[in-house]
Amino acid sequence: MVEQTVQVAVSPARSLGALDRNVFGGFVEHLGRCIDGGLFELGSPLSDERGFRRDVLDLLRQMGISVLRWPGGNFASTYRWVDGIGPANVRPIRPNLAWGGAEPNTFGTDEFLSYCAELGAAPYICLNMGTGTLREALEWVEYCNSMSRSYWAGQRQRNGHDEPYGVTYWGLGNEMYGDWQVGQLSAAEYVATAVSWARALRRAGPGVKLISCGLNGWSDWDRQVIDGLAGLVDLHSLHLYTGADDYWTNVLTPHQAERAITCTSALLARAAYEQHLDRVPGIAYDEWNVWYRTDDGFLEERYSFADALAVATYLNIFVRNCSMVRMANLAQLVNAIAPVVTTPQGAYPQPTYYPFLLHAGSALDEAVDAAVKGPVVAAPSEALGRWQHRLNYLGPFSLVDAAATTDTERSRISVTLVNRQVEGVTDVVVRLRDFAFVGNPSVKTLTGETGSGARVLPDIEAVTLEEGTGLSKGADGFITLPPKSFAVIEARITRE
Ligand code: AHR
Ligand code: AHR
Repeated sequence: MVEQTVQVAVSPARSLGALDRNVFGGFVEHLGRCIDGGLFELGSPLSDERGFRRDVLDLLRQMGISVLRWPGGNFASTYRWVDGIGPANVRPIRPNLAWGGAEPNTFGTDEFLSYCAELGAAPYICLNMGTGTLREALEWVEYCNSMSRSYWAGQRQRNGHDEPYGVTYWGLGNEMYGDWQVGQLSAAEYVATAVSWARALRRAGPGVKLISCGLNGWSDWDRQVIDGLAGLVDLHSLHLYTGADDYWTNVLTPHQAERAITCTSALLARAAYEQHLDRVPGIAYDEWNVWYRTDDGFLEERYSFADALAVATYLNIFVRNCSMVRMANLAQLVNAIAPVVTTPQGAYPQPTYYPFLLHAGSALDEAVDAAVKGPVVAAPSEALGRWQHRLNYLGPFSLVDAAATTDTERSRISVTLVNRQVEGVTDVVVRLRDFAFVGNPSVKTLTGETGSGARVLPDIEAVTLEEGTGLSKGADGFITLPPKSFAVIEARITRE
């Protein structure tokens, strides 16, 4: 058996920035069985009286979903929000032009906002910049947020919600650059429209935070949109999907997010400097995931443990780049490219559920520097996977990817380790700088299919979660990682 040694030097005093819990966000769209027949199923014995599937809600609550984006995605670009309010039996059925089939409109704005309240997540609404008008957008904000005796506030009250919902996050369209988007725009057209929308929406209420529609982060679309909108938005959005049957492609391509964050940060800093802005907008990674197997209007991807390692890596990247990444939304949450899948009888976690659960459950207040010394793998030079990502100029990548957070008092630490080694165990020394361990660290380790027979549906891969402890001696913590594993190390620490 090969045995590797890796050192992770963690500096609790070297803050990389406050971690916004919104990096543990999610996204649900009117797509296949994500909402209807997923988290929402009227009449199911598993649902509450509003049709919210309790079993789904339980799993999503455990994940710690902090912010929820809705109603799309591509669906947002033809969505008429007024179709989805008022008595359910008179709501119109419309064609779902993004994904096929019909949209019954039974899950609309009030249902979504009640769902967010149940989940304990902040709502994030993506506006329709495809077929929608600015007037409809302003009225949507008024319906959700107005305290006055205005017409749409009155409609909300008639629908049973006296108090304004106070929706903070509003997206200025979804993927408006794409030819798959109803109402596709050129960058110049988008900037012209989004600037006038943003100015008006900012008048619609203090506390409204706007998110501009970005592409991959390094494109000329991003540059033009950032230059045009940096002074009017709080966040610039990015999307990234990765994945391939090939193991190395699958586990390494999430590093493309690190390039995107670097490029976008530079574009944002440049715009803020050139335009004398008093603050630099942040980044909302408002769609990210592994997605490469399906493209049929349902996207019911079955995930493997390699996909789970990719998800864990994305989250490490968002944590260590938290000074710029203030929000990230796993796309999506239920049935469609999702960590949770349902049948009429139950809801089940896929392998990708677990790294999210452990990450969100262990992350502390601030990200801190974690430098890895150990074996590396070079970035492949060819284009990779379904989305043809090229990792050129990135890497080499440590076989063990690390991120670390501490509480503000610097009395606790959490280290997340993605071990991409394919064979043999890896001995890891977590070496604290200027701090020492207090007691032995606790270690939670995830590994893939073990043949333990724990499969919950015939086609869902089992994941094993082991809870144990490492050893500590002064500044050093010792942990042994199995191959292809994800581990969370949590410990109490003290200043040396
Ligand atoms: O998440 C699936 C789709 O991917 C979204 O609707 C769209 O925004 C992206 O292309
Ligand atoms: O390229 C973007 C995505 O690709 C679209 O959202 C989806 O329809 C297609 O599979």
